[in-house]
Amino acid sequence: MLSAAALAIVVCGDLDVAFDRQLSYLLQDCSAASENLLLAAHAQGLGACWVGIHPGEPLVKRVKELLGLPAQIVPVAAISIGYPGEQQPPRTRYSRDYIRREKW
Ligand SMILES: Cc1cc2nc3c(=O)[nH]c(=O)nc-3n(C[C@H](O)[C@H](O)[C@H](O)COP(=O)(O)O)c2cc1C
Repeated sequence: MLSAAALAIVVCGDLDVAFDRQLSYLLQDCSAASENLLLAAHAQGLGACWVGIHPGEPLVKRVKELLGLPAQIVPVAAISIGYPGEQQPPRTRYSRDYIRREKW
């Protein structure tokens, strides 16, 4: 859907300024940003989809080349945004079996 989308935002993290310079924190930050982009697009009546980049090495390399990203910049996800072509009914993957109370 990326090639057909009106817009794509590539969410990147900077290892030099990530907390403790750790990739794990960078990924958590970028994941929160990605989810916020999805929610913001939805709130505007737009369609959006999280397209994973990291940790697929060939994909990370290709996106870094394409966008000319410096070594410390990690592309984590692309968020495609556009006018939705279809409306899917809401669904859930919730199951009570996934919930633990107080202890696993
Ligand atoms: C880390 C991550 C990577 C994803 N990568 C893709 C992707 O490459 N292509 C795609 O169509 N959807 C991708 N998605 C979206 C999922 O397929 C799915 O639509 C999303 O997690 C919402 O799930 P739900 O429909 O059960 O609510 C990704 C989601 C996550 C969290």
